[in-house]
Amino acid sequence: MKPVVVLVGVMGAGKSTVGQVLAQRLEKPLRDTDEDIVATAGKPISDIFVDDGEDHFRSLERAAVKAALETHDGVLALGGGAILAPETRELLKGHRVAYLEVGLADAVSRVGLGAGRPLLAINPRATLKHLLDLRRPLYEEVATIVVPTSGRATDDIAAEILHQL
Ligand code: S3P
Repeated sequence: MKPVVVLVGVMGAGKSTVGQVLAQRLEKPLRDTDEDIVATAGKPISDIFVDDGEDHFRSLERAAVKAALETHDGVLALGGGAILAPETRELLKGHRVAYLEVGLADAVSRVGLGAGRPLLAINPRATLKHLLDLRRPLYEEVATIVVPTSGRATDDIAAEILHQL
């Protein structure tokens, strides 16, 4: 069993909202590795970062992504930083991976003040710019479909992904 499509992109790219529409259209469940990590740890992501540190979060994330890639028959949304792990990028080979591409202005307006996203607790705009610059090549490396999302409606983005699947 493997996901119908895996969604990647930076925070604010719209993975959750686009994922919901895709899941409805495909009549398949949506799974989000952030939610799996919260369930495993028994606490919110910001508490994991504060109590246990980012390295611990990343190790939970690698395990969550691996498990979901092996078992989930539906739409799978990965946390924005999941692709930082070389082993995760390796695991993504052979999957259909849609990279939701977003410009800085749209990403900033979608995440607002970054509530619940520990990496954006300070200076969300500068941090997002940094993360976008750093991670863009990694998203492009794993993507089989690249979908521009800036200024576009969720339905339109989902339709393009469905068309390309
Ligand atoms: C992160 C993105 C978040 C979450 C965590 C770290 C990142 O997921 O996994 O806060 O490193 O970009 P979303 O992209 O779903 O917000």
